[in-house]
Amino acid sequence: MVDAKGIFVTGTDTGVGKTVVAGVLAALFKAKGIDVGVMKPVQSGGIRENGQLVSEDCRFLMKAAQADDDIALANPYCLEPALSPNVAAQVSGVTIDPRVITSAFHKLARHHDLVIVEGAGGLLVPIEGDFLIADLIQALDIPAVVVARPSLGTINHSLLTIRCAQHMGIKPIGVVINGFRDDTAGMAEKTSPEIIERLSGVRVIGILPYLPSVDVSEARLGNLIEVASQRLDLSRLEGGV
Ligand SMILES: Nc1ncnc2c1ncn2[C@@H]1O[C@H](COP(=O)(O)OP(=O)(O)OP(=O)(O)O)[C@@H](O)[C@H]1O
Ligand SMILES: [Mg+2]
Repeated sequence: MVDAKGIFVTGTDTGVGKTVVAGVLAALFKAKGIDVGVMKPVQSGGIRENGQLVSEDCRFLMKAAQADDDIALANPYCLEPALSPNVAAQVSGVTIDPRVITSAFHKLARHHDLVIVEGAGGLLVPIEGDFLIADLIQALDIPAVVVARPSLGTINHSLLTIRCAQHMGIKPIGVVINGFRDDTAGMAEKTSPEIIERLSGVRVIGILPYLPSVDVSEARLGNLIEVASQRLDLSRLEGGV
């Protein structure tokens, strides 16, 4: 078992597949008999449903983990503007209090063996004032998994993310390359995983293909878990399972 109460899923950018990978990790740990909770501390770009703001990311995560925790714990802040959390909060007249997030995490962690937490954007995205996603990971004191895209530029963005995490005292325990397409993959896509692993010293725990049946906004898992169980190796996470 990873020797932590949580794993923080961050990414090299917004839209790289953090929700998909966090959902996959939750489902794969659950399949190993581990009681998993999930959390999306701050959602910006929340959608309105029957007058309520809803986090599509949190809904997808809870479905993947088959979790039924109180939404106030799983998603303490849901903001409508699709902007960085600090700006979305400001224009919504909301003040994000990191202590609300850490307290919700600790409550979830008391009820579960492991809590998978999805960030927002990448490591240096501001949550409130000068408090960044990386500061939140430090405050939660949990290791990180980095989600990266397969295409050209991913070596630079992955190494930047990993080195920044390490510099801030955060432990990256694995990388997932997400959205690999066999039909369009060229030299960059084929060579990057090995180079990221070698130059960072952090293992690539798997390469997840692009799966048309998956859709976060529709909460559609399709064949995600089945494919991921063959393509991701949790034992490659530092700390193991
Ligand atoms: N492996 C995949 N196969 C097919 N579609 C995918 C895959 N991974 C992600 N997607 C789609 O790409 C989009 C972005 O993925 P996702 O929402 O997981 O990214 P994210 O990093 O969580 O983004 P955000 O920063 O907005 O939270 C979503 O519409 C999702 O359904
Ligand atoms: Mg997401």
